[in-house]
Amino acid sequence: MERKKIIAGNWKMNMLPDEAMQFIQGLTNIAEKHSEIEIILCVPYTDLFYALMAAQNTKIKIGAQNMHWEEKGAFTGEISGKMLEPIGVEYVIIGHSERRAYFAETDETVNKKVKSALKYNLKPIICVGETLEQRLKGETDSIIRRQVKNAFEQIEEEDLKQIIIAYEPIWAIGTGKTATAQEADDTISIIRQEIQQLYSKEAAKNIIIQYGGSVNSKNAKELFEKQNIDGALIGGASLNLEEFIRIIQLV
Ligand code: 13P
Repeated sequence: MERKKIIAGNWKMNMLPDEAMQFIQGLTNIAEKHSEIEIILCVPYTDLFYALMAAQNTKIKIGAQNMHWEEKGAFTGEISGKMLEPIGVEYVIIGHSERRAYFAETDETVNKKVKSALKYNLKPIICVGETLEQRLKGETDSIIRRQVKNAFEQIEEEDLKQIIIAYEPIWAIGTGKTATAQEADDTISIIRQEIQQLYSKEAAKNIIIQYGGSVNSKNAKELFEKQNIDGALIGGASLNLEEFIRIIQLV
């Protein structure tokens, strides 16, 4: 089975509703033309409704950038999977390094969120990645293996087809410094090895793994040519429609 290529934009805390709708309108034809690629926009909560409306009857999928693991309750400022599902959200980013760094997310909360997302039929995009310090100390493989193992705790093999992993080395996010295609491919192959250890050879072969970290139209082609890399999770370059389209056309 050929793995599907996924191009996802992570808008982070950017884009107002009218900008979101315009962007989606501008992307509609390209998404139609490249319907073999899954195109996802992970938008801020305030854009979700508008983005979902604009993306109706198009090939563009909409995701959230985070969710709480509880379904409801006294968690001021939080949004649950139970709230995202009925409005038509399909994907949710979980454990982005910015959330791990600034909002105290841990491997444990990531795992709880993954379980809750699956319960509400949302497809988690689970982010893993090492810091520069960890890379320089030669700890990349062990950190990544630990993050993957903990994120997938008590997740059944049959749920793996709903899950995407995004390998995002923290030192490459928003820095203009990309991992070389070889570095990205090597680390993603470690993730496949860990999935094989946790599940099976088949699972390791089939799970979709993206690369993220300063992906743009100049470096995307080389990354996409690597056999382990199934597309990209794109921050900065996903805010510019022309640039985002250029990247899609390189898949
Ligand atoms: P940049 O593409 O801006 O480096 O961000 C990557 C990222 O964090 C996507 O989730």
